[in-house]
Amino acid sequence: MGYSFWLSEGGARLAGIDTESPVPKYYQLKEIIRDMIEKEELRAGQAIPSEREFCERYGISRMTARQAIMELVNEGLLYREQGRGTFVAEKKLQQEAVRLTSFTQDMRDRGMRASSRVLEMEVEPAGPVVARMLGVDRGTRIVRLRRVRDADGEPMALETSHLLYEVARGVLDVDLSERSLYEELRKAGVRMSRAEQSYEAGLVSEAEAEHLGVPAGSPALLIERITFDQNDRPFEYVKSTYRADRYRVTTVLHP
Ligand code: GLP
Repeated sequence: MGYSFWLSEGGARLAGIDTESPVPKYYQLKEIIRDMIEKEELRAGQAIPSEREFCERYGISRMTARQAIMELVNEGLLYREQGRGTFVAEKKLQQEAVRLTSFTQDMRDRGMRASSRVLEMEVEPAGPVVARMLGVDRGTRIVRLRRVRDADGEPMALETSHLLYEVARGVLDVDLSERSLYEELRKAGVRMSRAEQSYEAGLVSEAEAEHLGVPAGSPALLIERITFDQNDRPFEYVKSTYRADRYRVTTVLHP
């Protein structure tokens, strides 16, 4: 078949699989394939080499190759077509739902660049819902931050974060259009311990449509998150509307 990337000019591809490494071989192969996709040596819609070719190229067993490919299929990076082979999926975004990631990190993991348009950043008293979610009294000072979240310059989500003022006041002066809120909070000493997140199907509202660049009524994925600090105290309550045509969540299920 002759895949040109086997003969990588830079030699990087030839590094192959390290049999001495404690990292499982199937995992190393996954990383190699992921890397090829990120570097666009393998592009969306293109067939990847067969299991047999991977075995010959990297001196691994059929089972190892199969496991690597199967996991990437499950993660949505590759897809199979009966009788035709395995192909690279479009960059519809996948997120490993178990990791506490920021939007910036989530996009980076998918090979995309995050940026934001800050629509509002206000200090205001917490209303009843926000107060309940953050476990504080009504009227407690919070920072409300509303951003359009772009991936590769195109709208991906609209996000409204409510943060405890005492935790987030340091970010009030930061230009968040090119920066990550979480990175700024970490710099300020905030340690995130966990988050509770829920997903719901929904529709893009009139008010959101323009920001998201899709017609009102388009399908959306609504995500809510409460994030806890090192003392297990909630400091962030966020509601996000993701474009369903661009965003996909993948979870790994264990028996
Ligand atoms: C995700 C979460 C939000 C969080 C945001 C931070 O989108 N759902 O709860 O506020 O990430 O993103 P960043 O650090 O990129 O600003």
